[in-house]
Amino acid sequence: MNEEKPIPIIIELNTLLADYNLYYQKLRSHHWNILGENFFELHEKFETLYIDAKMKVDEIAERVLTLRYHPMSKYSDYIKISSIKESSPLLTDREMVYEIINDHTKLLIQIKSVIKWAENAEDKEIIDMLGTYIRELEISTRMLDAWARNTENKFNNSIIKKVC
Ligand SMILES: [Fe+2]
Repeated sequence: MNEEKPIPIIIELNTLLADYNLYYQKLRSHHWNILGENFFELHEKFETLYIDAKMKVDEIAERVLTLRYHPMSKYSDYIKISSIKESSPLLTDREMVYEIINDHTKLLIQIKSVIKWAENAEDKEIIDMLGTYIRELEISTRMLDAWARNTENKFNNSIIKKVC
């Protein structure tokens, strides 16, 4: 058995794997437990997001294997190392969306930490893969944020005022 200390990028990738696993399971829970007038759209949205997260879980584990390490695979370990917390099935639709937006922030922080080590190791594949994750997370965060706002909320509109 090879008991050498893992290199930093393996620790960071396994942490990201833990994050995505907990995020995935939370999305499943929200998909199952959503109630109310937004049921149809959020039930479907959470499903779209968990299908995507499931694919990413596998991609991250494959990267760990490519580097000839075993990916972590136990939820009991994921809970110990992830900054993403399990959630209650009894949340309102809005609380569910806020939770997911908050998890996206945590995922982005961890992704950037993996990228830092990938740059050190000149691992272009990981940098490319995670660049896509960042773009996709930013888009879905923007959409969830738009959903969670009141319609009278506005972004910075100084440029529009200047032109009009
Ligand atoms: Fe379902």
